[in-house]
Amino acid sequence: MIESKTKRPSIRYLTPENLYAQLNHFTSGMAVTRGSFELVVNRCTLEDMEWNHMDQMHRLPIHRTYDKGVRIATGENFAVSLTQWGNWPFLITVSDVYVAKGLFYQSLTLAGIVFVHSIISMEEMGDSVKLKDEWYIASKKIFKFLHKPLDKKLYKLNARLQQEDEQLRQGRFELRQRGYTFRTDCPDYYNSNVLRNNTIYPPLDEGAFFTLDGVTSEPSTKTIDDLEFIVKKTERNEYLIWPAVCPHEGGPLMQGRFCEGKITCPWHGLHFMAAQLSAESPEAMKHGFTYTLQDNMVCVRQNVVTEIRHDEITESEAV
Ligand code: FES
Ligand SMILES: [Fe+2]
Repeated sequence: MIESKTKRPSIRYLTPENLYAQLNHFTSGMAVTRGSFELVVNRCTLEDMEWNHMDQMHRLPIHRTYDKGVRIATGENFAVSLTQWGNWPFLITVSDVYVAKGLFYQSLTLAGIVFVHSIISMEEMGDSVKLKDEWYIASKKIFKFLHKPLDKKLYKLNARLQQEDEQLRQGRFELRQRGYTFRTDCPDYYNSNVLRNNTIYPPLDEGAFFTLDGVTSEPSTKTIDDLEFIVKKTERNEYLIWPAVCPHEGGPLMQGRFCEGKITCPWHGLHFMAAQLSAESPEAMKHGFTYTLQDNMVCVRQNVVTEIRHDEITESEAV
């Protein structure tokens, strides 16, 4: 048993080798099968890999899986959930632990007969991260015939999930190149699952503006330096405006679902109300920006503190 001393509360854990040995000798007649999946994720930071791993809200919108998850308890270093795997008729308790920087454990038991323990390690290599997911499938020998199909399923599941997650990690990497940072840059299970505005936008100069030339009822983007805004016009001659980068964690809002004055972000399914400008109401503040309509221009000011504004973020029923 070794101790992890990071900025987070210390935890005690079995090393992977020790764990394997202990599972083998857990009781008489044990069978333990090892499996693994490895991948080098390009254009990615370790922080974003860790955040993505601990962020539970993207699972339904991005992976269309774990739709029946119940988050029972979450702390900085752990999460306990109840879920169902696909349509298998089992209830599964999943324990996730943030063991150390770049090291996670995940344990679950299937129908009380098979124990699956995953060790997820991440190593930063320049602009890439090497990911290794190693799993131990443990049961009494009588159930060893289940190991092979389960091992295959775990491999395929990992390959699919990693591919689907690419857009989040690489999306954030691209944003970092443009000066964006996130309040979850030191991610843990707690802050990665709190609903708030976590995106910190690059600073905007005094007197920044964009023109309304070419704005129609179809959403289009307007750029000021490293910032982009989505603008559309309503039938009542109002202008609806959102930052193009999601205030929550940086999702691409232009790829979201538009419904009147609201966009649903593709990454976590949260809804964002637009700032609305019109001749009668020429100023509005939303999601960290103040917009002022002046003739054919919209002047944009960044609010000093991007506060958590629960009235502007609503959790969709899907999350
Ligand atoms: S990034 Fe989370 S809802 Fe947009
Ligand atoms: Fe994911």
